[in-house]
Amino acid sequence: MRILTVCLGNICRSPAAESVLLHKLAEAGLGHVRVTSAGTADYHVGERPHELSVAEGERRGYAFSTRGIQFEDTHFDDADLVLAMDAINEADLLELVRSPEDRAKIVRFGVFASDAGDGVRDVPDPWGRPAEAYTAMYDQIEDAADGLVRALQEGTLDEVLARHGAGR
Ligand code: 4NP
Repeated sequence: MRILTVCLGNICRSPAAESVLLHKLAEAGLGHVRVTSAGTADYHVGERPHELSVAEGERRGYAFSTRGIQFEDTHFDDADLVLAMDAINEADLLELVRSPEDRAKIVRFGVFASDAGDGVRDVPDPWGRPAEAYTAMYDQIEDAADGLVRALQEGTLDEVLARHGAGR
C-alpha cells in the first residue's frame, strides 16, 4: 500500500498528514505502508515544511524530513491512495487523471474522520494563519489518520471509499 497526501503548497497540511500517518502506521504495526506527500502548486518546491507546521508536529512527537514537490500525473503510478486535504485539491487532482484507475485513487482525507457522515469536512488551509490554526489542523489530521489506520487494520478501506463515492 502506497499513500500520497496532497495539499496546495506541500509545506503545511500534506507534510503534516504524511508525518502523522507514518507515525501511527508504525505504531499499529503497519510500517510497510509507504507515505509521501506533494502539492498541486509549485510555489514551495524544494522548501522544508512550514515552521509552524514543524513546531506543532514536533511538539506532538512527529518527525519531518521532506522538501516540497509538485504533484505530477505520473505520481498516480506510485500511489494506491491519493488523499486530498480539501475539495480544491481534489478538483485539481481530478483535472490531472489519465484513466479511471487514476481517478479511483483520489479521495478526500476527511472521509476517514470520526465526524464523516453525509458530508466530509475539508482540512482547511492554515497558510498565513496563527499557530492556533496549526493546532486545529493537527487535531483534525490525527483524527482522520486514526480512521485510515483503523480501516487498513480492519480491511474496510474499500467499504469506506465506496460509502463516500470515491473511486468513480
Ligand atoms: P498547504 O498550505 O497547502 O497546506 O501547504 C499552503 C502553503 C502555501 C500557500 C498556500 C497554502 N501559498 O499560497 O503559498
